[in-house]
Amino acid sequence: MNVSRVAWRRKECALKKSDVVEELLDGRRRAPGASGTAFAPANIALCKYWGKRDDELNLPMTSSLSLSLGALGATTEIAPCDGPADRVWLNGEALSGESPFVRRLTAYLDLYRSGHGYDVHTVSTVPVAAGLASSASGFAALVLALNELYGWELDRKALSILARLGSGSASRSVFDGFVEWHAGARDDGMDSYAERLDVSWPELRLGLLALSSAEKPVGSRDAMKNTRDTGALYAAWPEKVAGDLVEIRGALRDKDVERLGRAAESNALTMHATMLSGWPPILYWLPESVQTLQAVWAARKEGVPVYCTMDAGPNVKLLFLDEDRSRVTERFEGLQLVETNRKGSA
Ligand code: PMV
Repeated sequence: MNVSRVAWRRKECALKKSDVVEELLDGRRRAPGASGTAFAPANIALCKYWGKRDDELNLPMTSSLSLSLGALGATTEIAPCDGPADRVWLNGEALSGESPFVRRLTAYLDLYRSGHGYDVHTVSTVPVAAGLASSASGFAALVLALNELYGWELDRKALSILARLGSGSASRSVFDGFVEWHAGARDDGMDSYAERLDVSWPELRLGLLALSSAEKPVGSRDAMKNTRDTGALYAAWPEKVAGDLVEIRGALRDKDVERLGRAAESNALTMHATMLSGWPPILYWLPESVQTLQAVWAARKEGVPVYCTMDAGPNVKLLFLDEDRSRVTERFEGLQLVETNRKGSA
């Protein structure tokens, strides 16, 4: 059998999102209640998810590890409506059915509906300008709200899998605190879900630096695919992640900010290097991003233990301890501190 025939056979047998939903909701399908409401936090990965082994099911090449952002996130209320079309409001504003956001939501809700539309009201406390992935908290809140609406009573593992089908990083947003998303190895992804780590580190601080709110040139989905398929450096990524995960888990256990910061910063910069090694090359950074990185490195040289991470955008997030807060906020104007220890409410 030649390669294209193998690829075709694999494609033919590939599982769809609907197969996974079918399996998880087996015996739980029922008519919706009046409405369901839930909150889910946004999260920042300390070890990134970058690249999928299955584009349909959002199965990752590697595991990843994140910190949830407390009360920064999305609260979603969902209710069935009379008409066939979904109606979506974001922060009180009705969105056009043609917007990419609503199209993505509608495609996801197709997995659950039986002929009717939904009214979906989402209120997000994630600062739009901070370049935080709103899809993570958005899809996680939606899945938790659907669980309420239908009374499925699914456990967190199943909810994490359903959230992953909406957006990979959403699998981590069904939990507070430090969270690890296990890559898993199965084709159906039933072993690819997130779990909360038994770690409490209230002295660790996360700060957001919003450098640009401009729309990104390439979405994370396309950028990941481009990197995986064309990035000369991507082959090195899984091994880099494996090492960083060991370091980060150890640093969380020992409350060692230097070890954590070094692994998290290096992990983020390596992710960006893999993007640059693809074709077309992808670079999310702006001149301000580079200036900020240089300011972080200068601060460390002068004895301030501050570290950074970046996602698929130009903005920079800082990691440091509470005891260094004034030394860090002095240096980085506009730094927004996140209360990761404060829980959001539904
Ligand atoms: O879940 P997505 O498709 O929005 O991808 C998230 C990708 C990063 O934010 C860059 C990394 C991560 O692990 O959150």
